[in-house]
Amino acid sequence: MKKLFIYTVYLFISTGLMAQSGTRLTLNFNDNWKFSLQNDSTAIQPSYNDAAWRNLNLPHDWSIEGTFSKDHPATTQGGALPTGIGWYRKTFVLPKQASGKQVRIEFDGVYRNSEVWVNGQYLGLRPYGYSAFSYDLTPYIKPAPHNNVITVKVDNSMQPNSRWYSGSGIYRNVKLVATNTVAIKKWGQFITTPQVNKQYAVVNFATGITNLTGKDVVVTVNTKVFDGAGKPVNTEPISKIKNITTGKEGATHEYAVYIKQPALWSVDKPNLYKAVTTLTVNGKVVDELSQTFGIRHFHFDKDKGFFLNGDWLKIKGVCNHHDLGALGAAVNVRAMERQLEILKAMGCNAIRTAHNPPAQELLELCDRMGFLVMDEAFDMWAKKKNKFDYFADFKQWHREDLLDMVLRDRNHPSVFMWSIGNEIREQFDSTGITLTKEMVALIKSVDTTRPVTAGLSEWNPEKNFMYKAGALDVIGLNYHHEVYEDFQQHFPDQVFIGSENMSAFATRGHYDMPSDSTYFWPAASPQKIVEKGNPDYTVSAYDQVSAYWGSTHETTWKLIKKHNFLSGLFVWSGFDFIGEPIPYPWPARSSYYGIIDLAGFPKDVYYMYQSEWTNKPMLHIFPHWNWKPGQLVDIWAYYNQADEVELWLNGRSLGVKKKEGDALHVQWRVPFEAGTIKAVSRKNGKTIVEKVIHTAGAAARIELVADRTAIHADGKDLSFVTARIVDKDGNLVPDAGNTLTWKVDGAAFLAATDNGYQADTVSFKSAVRKCWKGLALGIVQNNAKKGNITVLVSSPGLPPASITLRTKP
Ligand code: GAL
Repeated sequence: MKKLFIYTVYLFISTGLMAQSGTRLTLNFNDNWKFSLQNDSTAIQPSYNDAAWRNLNLPHDWSIEGTFSKDHPATTQGGALPTGIGWYRKTFVLPKQASGKQVRIEFDGVYRNSEVWVNGQYLGLRPYGYSAFSYDLTPYIKPAPHNNVITVKVDNSMQPNSRWYSGSGIYRNVKLVATNTVAIKKWGQFITTPQVNKQYAVVNFATGITNLTGKDVVVTVNTKVFDGAGKPVNTEPISKIKNITTGKEGATHEYAVYIKQPALWSVDKPNLYKAVTTLTVNGKVVDELSQTFGIRHFHFDKDKGFFLNGDWLKIKGVCNHHDLGALGAAVNVRAMERQLEILKAMGCNAIRTAHNPPAQELLELCDRMGFLVMDEAFDMWAKKKNKFDYFADFKQWHREDLLDMVLRDRNHPSVFMWSIGNEIREQFDSTGITLTKEMVALIKSVDTTRPVTAGLSEWNPEKNFMYKAGALDVIGLNYHHEVYEDFQQHFPDQVFIGSENMSAFATRGHYDMPSDSTYFWPAASPQKIVEKGNPDYTVSAYDQVSAYWGSTHETTWKLIKKHNFLSGLFVWSGFDFIGEPIPYPWPARSSYYGIIDLAGFPKDVYYMYQSEWTNKPMLHIFPHWNWKPGQLVDIWAYYNQADEVELWLNGRSLGVKKKEGDALHVQWRVPFEAGTIKAVSRKNGKTIVEKVIHTAGAAARIELVADRTAIHADGKDLSFVTARIVDKDGNLVPDAGNTLTWKVDGAAFLAATDNGYQADTVSFKSAVRKCWKGLALGIVQNNAKKGNITVLVSSPGLPPASITLRTKP
């Protein structure tokens, strides 16, 4: 049995000598930071007294804590929340196991313009708020029992700098990593699967090694592979043992193994493996790195579309910004997981990280849950979209930012394409040619296994200089569905992906009738923005309104569905996000584009996708059944796995409807009469799904539903508690706007509240919030204690409601 494969590498490198004991140490460095929103540069001094600063744990986003105002310099486009300059400090003693080691601090993302000092020593600046970066602390760090101080200045004061809500602060995770003088390089192990079939896979490892010992060292590289259940996998070595002589920069050792009958990674079965690589010097293990990977292969066919592991697959994706609704930009794994769960249940199989590299944890979740990811670098290059955006940093930083994205993310099986940018202005002039070539070449210098694309807004190949560069592997078109059917004429021999589509608008629970008149909004002229508006800043949730550059959901999906050469699409957007509240001005402060609202409550069109993208029998009818007597009401049904739907009002059949041609829903127009609407979908005469909606009476009580009643006592885990205002019989009161007060006791606190309404200007931190269309959300976060959690919700005129949650043992 050959379980491991061992290679010996000779390194001839020089620099300082260090003691080596144990392997690497990776510390979560998120806890016990100090924070101040004042700009005081004396905080750089190690002796600075930060006792008056606020204590907090990272990840942290100070903008989300603020109050909404139309006067904040980020504007409503940036979410109408405060920005500014903030300082963080952390005083710490280096753990004993780290002393004598190479110590670096790793930031997964700081928005933006971060500057870092250790013990008063300047380490550097990182302008781009979405890049992961690290600093070597070794020369300046003091061993135990001495104190060390890390100081971070975050400058998000120059506004506007983003077309959406960015958040402000150290909003992603921070780690401290201590390694020996011989170690695997940061992002230094690249795992690829050059050959994959059902019988076997070739897995290739390229392990980058650093040697700072100052002398020649013989290093033995040993990688063990484990399957998803943690069981060792029998691997067979392919490469011969060889010795590598390297220069000062270290060595990269490449070797490959066979894995028989590999469990392939796919969106339905996201099988993962783990490679544990050790470096041994003189019989002592000096480093050990555990790296998750997946075995899968894919290709695009210009005529037939996309194939994953040889199986045809339509890419059913959504674009998402990075905010987590009311939690803001601060990374929380459970909040990201919940978003992905909601998307998975809709049948979504792909995510585009609009328009920047995501948090590492998002990619880990996509690996584990089965989503393909288009990992995107930039929203602009050297030509700006906002006065103070990344354009000014681009010249100096884009190579590093781009490479760092690819190096950090290239082992994720979920990541299947790189995007060099979204609607980049350079596509309109010849600078687009040079830069496109440069960036594609840069990516290929570190990863040749994935195609490179971009979200192009100029569809005409004659006018698009990024296309003319001839370097893009896949043509990503944003919008312009009107040319999709002719894509192959315009772009012969090219592969298509809808990199961004729809931009349809909706507010959950609001319905304008008649529902079958679709319209663009805003009109092309900005002055007209609110002309068609509703006084309460709502947009109809029948799929009938879109931006003029996009379409309704149904229009574009019908096209993508029809032609195999249209490999798939990314809907703008999966979730509503903070900022970009087109088509409304203040007080609208979050977007209307989501299939799902900001609180995570699906809008009706969610079920159109579910009917098309999943096979599980479903039927969704809407709207609610509370209208004026006699009013003509449009009732829509989305369904699948059935031939027809019959509708009844108070026991009288309103007829049977079938989706004709390429229709994606059926509709009845019915004069309202209070009572009961019942819909039944049938296949071959057999009932598949039945749905009933009753006219709701007066609000009688609050019903609380937690997405999870047991959460981890890790200080991070969340329970999302939905409050529903119901009548005495439990029917949702569809227009209820009751004011709720949330109180959380025990092993948790109230992290935020929301209701999904785009123009609610109450701070997300407020415990008091109105419901929107009968629903509200309380996000309950564990406080690192164990035990029960009581969530109490009260509202004038209604009996208080409570729910008990607990922490997991
Ligand atoms: C696109 C852009 C997105 C978003 C969207 C709104 O053109 O790429 O970031 O702004 O429009 O419709």
